[in-house]
Amino acid sequence: MSKSKTTANVGLTARRGGPLRGALTAPGDKSISHRALLLAALAVGETVILGLLEGDDVHRTAAALRSLGVLATRDGPGAWRINGVGVGGLLPPDDVIDLGNSGTAARLLCGLLAGHGFSTVLTGDASLRSRPMGRVITPLTAMGAVFQARGSDHMPLTITGSDNLRPTIYTLPVASAQVKSAVLLAGLHAPGETSVVEPSPTRDHTERMLGHFGASVRVEEAGTGRRVIVTGQPELTPAVITVPADPSSAAFPAVAALLVEGSEITLPGICTNPIRAGLYTTLAEMGAALAYRNERIEGGEPVADLVVKTSSLTGVEVPSERAPAMIDEYPVLAIAAACAEGTTVFHSVGELRHKESDRLATVSAGLTACGVNVEETADSLTIHGVGPGAGRRPAGGATIEAALDHRIAMSFLVLGLVSEKPVTIDDDSSIETSFPDFAKAMCALGADIEPGT
Ligand code: S3P
Repeated sequence: MSKSKTTANVGLTARRGGPLRGALTAPGDKSISHRALLLAALAVGETVILGLLEGDDVHRTAAALRSLGVLATRDGPGAWRINGVGVGGLLPPDDVIDLGNSGTAARLLCGLLAGHGFSTVLTGDASLRSRPMGRVITPLTAMGAVFQARGSDHMPLTITGSDNLRPTIYTLPVASAQVKSAVLLAGLHAPGETSVVEPSPTRDHTERMLGHFGASVRVEEAGTGRRVIVTGQPELTPAVITVPADPSSAAFPAVAALLVEGSEITLPGICTNPIRAGLYTTLAEMGAALAYRNERIEGGEPVADLVVKTSSLTGVEVPSERAPAMIDEYPVLAIAAACAEGTTVFHSVGELRHKESDRLATVSAGLTACGVNVEETADSLTIHGVGPGAGRRPAGGATIEAALDHRIAMSFLVLGLVSEKPVTIDDDSSIETSFPDFAKAMCALGADIEPGT
């Protein structure tokens, strides 16, 4: 579990140093890890999961499932066995469920609990309690669940599910894989077909994994987006799941290697699912030297070994329609943009204000503190790059408030590896949610990241 804000945390400082070299195996994909546990819990019998992310967010999902009557056994690093209870077979918990920092755990679990006729109280840390839950409350209420939420939109909330859930046809008002997944998972508990229409495609791990467990799921074109249809009340069959390395976590060493002179690193077994690849597409457009080796399919997802070499980057306009494919990667792309030649613009990214922190505000404040010129609007960010070239690097020399946001913490540590002066983050505890041992793994490549200021 992550250290809380009240535990003394000395933070981390990153300094400019030598090149990054070698291989770094990024931790298991966070989205796929949550879904592997949740669907395994609904299968009948034992599912084996390999490569599970053992970060705080995923531990919260495992702990929640245990408190709902699921047997989850850890056999070794990343190797878990889950004894599923069947669709609709969860038991009432005897305490509040605390989901820590994890929005994915919170929203997806609401989908599962909607189909169970008992009450559960869900809460989380200060970051999660500030994030909107109305986006899942609305469709799940229409299906028959009852919510009592703080201020109608926030955790702590009580969800009372129904044993007679109704199927639905729901069009997503925001491009959100978490909302899509919550409705699909609820739909598993309802008779007949439940459909989710997404105006633009979002990550599709739930659909892929539902198929892997033998559910009947169809995906149809719907204008610029898709319609996903699941048939409820199936018997899910246990299946071995191999979780690929997380492209969102690999983004930090990848951008660091692009920026730190003389670097060349390999990131083995990265998930290359196109709906997660937006950052890498954008970096390639900026001039990044990225090579995909040994492309293959593992556990129903495309994966490859990614080789990254130092490159001179040029600013770009990131198309708004690419946002769902790189929604978690804007903070680290902002660091690349700050070190690039020319201007980079992020369009239509208001959703970033609803992540673990308000990422338009935290990125903008952090870059400004590090001497980078940025312009922030309600839903866009413009970053004026300072480099690359001799004497052209962000000034750095600031202490950044990580704001319980792992991606802000790791992004600014990457900046500290290239900025003129070191960059410190005030609290590194959030990194544990998605990338345990991040600093150690980066140091093994040659980075200079140390505790304290
Ligand atoms: C996720 C979906 C995205 C993403 C989050 C993980 C998921 O959130 O930001 O880190 O696993 O479904 P939204 O659904 O809010 O876009």
